[in-house]
Amino acid sequence: MFTARAKVCGLIGNPIEHSLSPLMQGIFSSEMNVDSIYVPLPVKKDLENAIKGAYLLGFKGLNVTIPYKKEVINYLIDIDESAKKIGAVNTLVRVNGGFKGYNTDILGLEKSLKNADISIKNKKVIIFGAGGAAKSVLHLCVNLGAESIILVNRDILKAKKLITELENKNVDLKAFSLEEFKLQLKNILPYNDYIAFQATSVGMYPNVDECIIEDNEFYEKCLAGVDIIYTPSKTRFMEMFLNKKVINGLDMLLYQGAFAWELWNEVKLDNEVIEKVRDMLKERVKDRKS
Ligand code: ATR
Repeated sequence: MFTARAKVCGLIGNPIEHSLSPLMQGIFSSEMNVDSIYVPLPVKKDLENAIKGAYLLGFKGLNVTIPYKKEVINYLIDIDESAKKIGAVNTLVRVNGGFKGYNTDILGLEKSLKNADISIKNKKVIIFGAGGAAKSVLHLCVNLGAESIILVNRDILKAKKLITELENKNVDLKAFSLEEFKLQLKNILPYNDYIAFQATSVGMYPNVDECIIEDNEFYEKCLAGVDIIYTPSKTRFMEMFLNKKVINGLDMLLYQGAFAWELWNEVKLDNEVIEKVRDMLKERVKDRKS
């Protein structure tokens, strides 16, 4: 329930019909007894005017998703330092004269690693992918003090570009094409203690039989695996780790939303409410067919 005084927030992107954010944000507000409302706002074109319009309409905050996480930066009045470094924004907070941009995706991923007791400090990291998601993973791993990072992507040029763009070079960074990585696995991975991040769309519903790398030897060389996909809840990539520690992207989704809600409402969410929303998300994605 909400009143005429409600804080109004929303989700901008295209397409957004399958987003779980409106449900999640709705539960946060009702469980916390906060007078706010969160609405889906499909924006097919002219992001600039959509953002201006949202400001004029009094929106307190917005989430921004595919395909606008980069473009939206052009229409902000201010940007959080870490979001600026990453070059991607998923949360907007109303300030005087416009919106300030944040990246709560990276905060959500950090929190989900912490919850799973996966530490990155001084660890050897492998990241599959070089898109927006991989970029967030890369920045987080650098920030968390990874010892070395191997970036693997089908298109090697995209992986190299990500590395070149990175400001902090205080970490041993290498890029390989997926093809070369598979062929040269033994030479590229001399150790047995890597943390592997799967940040491509390979294995996501409906292509649940796909896996970025099939070779058992790869998984034997890893300590733990993180897949940013959450449908299905256990990807083939995750299954390949057998009994080792693995997590999916559900907590990242949950906590990016929780951090956004806290920014808009300036209230900390109760843990029980977060648990409740996690259960709802699990239930929703369990048999998800879209
Ligand atoms: P996101 O913002 O979710 O990261 P994206 O920017 O479109 O989405 O990036 C998708 C990633 O998945 C890319 O790394 C892409 O590899 P390329 O850069 O080589 O295109 C990767 N990807 C998608 N389909 C793939 C496939 N079938 N095999 C290997 N990698 C794939």
